[in-house]
Amino acid sequence: MRENHLEDYFSFLRFPSVSTDNQFASNVRECAEWVSQKLAAIGLESKVVSTAGHPIVWARNEHRPGRRTVLIYGHYDVQPPDPLELWDSPPFEPVLKEGYVFARGATDNKGQILSHIIGIQETMEQDHDLPVNLHLVIEGEEEIGSANLGPFLSQNRDALRSDVAVVSDTGMIARGVPTLSYGLRGVTALEVKVTGPKMDLHSGVFGGAVANPITALAQLLATLHDREGRVAIAGFYDRVKPLENWEREAWRKLPVDGDKLVLKETGVPELFGEAGYNSLERIWARPTAEINGIGGGYQGKGTKTVIASHAIAKLTFRLVPEQEGNEILELAKTHLRKNLPKGVTLEMTNGHSGPWYLTDPHSAIGEAAQRALRKAFNANVALIREGGSIPIVSQFRSILGIETLLMGLALADCRAHSPNENFPLENLEGGIRLNKAILHELAR
Ligand code: BES
Ligand code: ZN
Repeated sequence: MRENHLEDYFSFLRFPSVSTDNQFASNVRECAEWVSQKLAAIGLESKVVSTAGHPIVWARNEHRPGRRTVLIYGHYDVQPPDPLELWDSPPFEPVLKEGYVFARGATDNKGQILSHIIGIQETMEQDHDLPVNLHLVIEGEEEIGSANLGPFLSQNRDALRSDVAVVSDTGMIARGVPTLSYGLRGVTALEVKVTGPKMDLHSGVFGGAVANPITALAQLLATLHDREGRVAIAGFYDRVKPLENWEREAWRKLPVDGDKLVLKETGVPELFGEAGYNSLERIWARPTAEINGIGGGYQGKGTKTVIASHAIAKLTFRLVPEQEGNEILELAKTHLRKNLPKGVTLEMTNGHSGPWYLTDPHSAIGEAAQRALRKAFNANVALIREGGSIPIVSQFRSILGIETLLMGLALADCRAHSPNENFPLENLEGGIRLNKAILHELAR
């Protein structure tokens, strides 16, 4: 790989483009400007489009009639790097170690989207043209639910008319195994606040005579699951499509042992989850209720004898076909209201929401994707679903009327969202080859 590609990669990674924290808003915008300038420098027409939130970078080549139009999507925003002390090197000072680049966003999604950009760059340098009409849409709010991208698609529906969307923001089942993902889970978020006294109290003076909001919250959250790990919200599974035998069998033939992989990558003492399913089935085809964060009371050093006035928890639900996000939120809220312990009040706020996605890997474009993957990696293609979510993908279908090819480059040990996120240069190079192959396959 060329030295200046690595320099571009490092420049991209140096922007702390954390979308969830407004303290970083100007870094996010600077990152968008950098992406747009890079796209202009390789010969595309590019602009930074402001939204009610973070900006969208939109670039295109000169479109010619009679050619296929491909929309490549990715995101330049990243998750917060916390906890900082667990990183071996600072998250926004990228380093190359033994073939791996370490930085927040190295995989998710800067490395993957840059591989597309470099693939386009090299094709334009060699051929002075691309085989297709191209739109590149690179947003800054994927990690917070893409709330402003749907309206952007609606407003620019005609200008964005395309035949297919191409996205590299998912996983590769194993090193060197090209992977086409035909499903994503959805996700919907809920914040819960339990309040007791009007202020933090002395726990000796008032303890025993008032309900403790943290205890109440813990009791409430414990009602979300039964002892077997199933979600205990009434109606939660009603719309879940049972996993079919053909799919279970196909997944068992994949060149990876999901149970071993989970044990190895997570370091948990033993596997856990819904009875009757193996790890891949639990992750790809079953819904969950997760507590992502919990807070309240004294968190500093030493002890403080206090009863907190309130406690909060951040929840998300991963959704599978045919669950519906708003309905699940309503069921969850009903459940929480019903199970609220005595002596406290409850407030709940809906967060971001994104639907699940399921498509046919054997459609004409699916087969084109498989040919491109085989060509780029010189190996048989794995067909999988994903546990993660990319909220906008279902809107490519509902607003633009197109299907999405999910051709991910993230490895299980790339540590997306975790400390020491990393991406092998091998996959950046594979992604460059993949971009060239897919544009040619789709042009035919
Ligand atoms: N790249 C991920 C999605 C992903 C990860 C798909 C692994 C398949 C396998 C994406 O950047 C992401 O993290 N999405 C969020 C969306 C949410 C914040 C609305 C997610 O899944 O938590
Ligand atoms: Zn992510």
